[in-house]
Amino acid sequence: MNPSLNVSMLQNDRFLRALRREPVDRTPLWLMRQAGRYLPEYRATRAKAGDFLTLCKTPELCCEVTLQPIDRYGFDAAILFSDILTIPDAMGLGLQFVENEGPTFSNPVRSADDIAQLPIPDPEGELRYVMDAVRTIKSGLSNRVPLIGFAGSPWTLATYMIEGRGSRDFAHAKKMRYDAPQLLKALLDKLTESVAIYLAAQAKAGADALMIFDTWGGVLDPDGYRFFSLQPMARIVERLSVIAPGVPVMLFSKGASAYLLEQANTGVAALGVDWTLNIGDARYRVDGGVALQGNMDPTALFASPEKIRELAGRILDDYGAAPGHIFNLGHGILPGTPPENVAALVQAVHELSPAYHAAAADEAV
Ligand code: CP3
Repeated sequence: MNPSLNVSMLQNDRFLRALRREPVDRTPLWLMRQAGRYLPEYRATRAKAGDFLTLCKTPELCCEVTLQPIDRYGFDAAILFSDILTIPDAMGLGLQFVENEGPTFSNPVRSADDIAQLPIPDPEGELRYVMDAVRTIKSGLSNRVPLIGFAGSPWTLATYMIEGRGSRDFAHAKKMRYDAPQLLKALLDKLTESVAIYLAAQAKAGADALMIFDTWGGVLDPDGYRFFSLQPMARIVERLSVIAPGVPVMLFSKGASAYLLEQANTGVAALGVDWTLNIGDARYRVDGGVALQGNMDPTALFASPEKIRELAGRILDDYGAAPGHIFNLGHGILPGTPPENVAALVQAVHELSPAYHAAAADEAV
């Protein structure tokens, strides 16, 4: 696949241009978890599917929910509707989503034997339904906006696989990190390989950009973060530069803004920034080396439309008049978010951001 050919066919390539830090007419915008329970049309499709996992495993319905926020809000990028836990599910851990409890695994991974027995899933085998979803969505989008493919980081996947569920303190995973680091490393090595070939397959199926979600990187100590979270992600980025050349990769390591420069040095096109750091400071720290995505507090979307506009304006101003900003939240949109407040945010970014790109537009003339 020739990615540059793909780009030129897109009707709206603002997002991909911003990833390359090229001039744009206004700041591109999409939201993490933009398809989800805050939208009534999502809840209707999910009810039709019966449950979340069936929805994830039905490509036509994945396509339907991926397109819903694009149709409603005109976001500048679509994100594959799926979940990061598809890989552990394909490894045979017995994934279930229990209502109001989140994900659980009936076969958590604790011993050397458990880890040795884990298969590396074939993206066009056990995970073919995800690739079929990418192909179906790509065709359903008719090149309106680019499609983002994604996976969880090895460390974040490992936390769910070791704990067997979501966790507050990650006691089992961290015990392994301290008492049996070689065991954790063996698990992370398998996940690194699985994630790399999974993301490359999504690119081959049509994804225009790839994102790695490291939701739990920030719970590690500094040595632990560098060795168990960042290093496996850096290996994936390096591998993708060979097996999916030219496809931009984004990294979002929540709670880990202390390591922003090290994240930038992995060779990614963009970094996600959570809401605990001023995006102007983040820009200063990476010194133009990568694009930045973020970073409004998702809870701010419960505030009034006026406040939302003010906060959006502040983030645009903090980033300033430079290319390479993709507007997003600092984490996923929350299920109870009023849909009309999302509309207020979209309107604010559409109206306020062109001023920060005027110089670029002048230069292009
Ligand atoms: O961004 C998008 O719109 C694409 C879809 C997407 C989902 N999950 C759908 C989903 C993406 C990118 C994810 C990633 C994901 N999944 C992450 C990393 C990003 C993050 O938010 O930190 C994590 C940690 C998961 C694991 C996961 N999936 C959890 C912990 C939960 C339960 C939490 C909850 O909100 O109920 C899920 C379920 C899930 N994934 C839902 C959706 C729309 C809700 C399912 C439903 O009840 O309909």
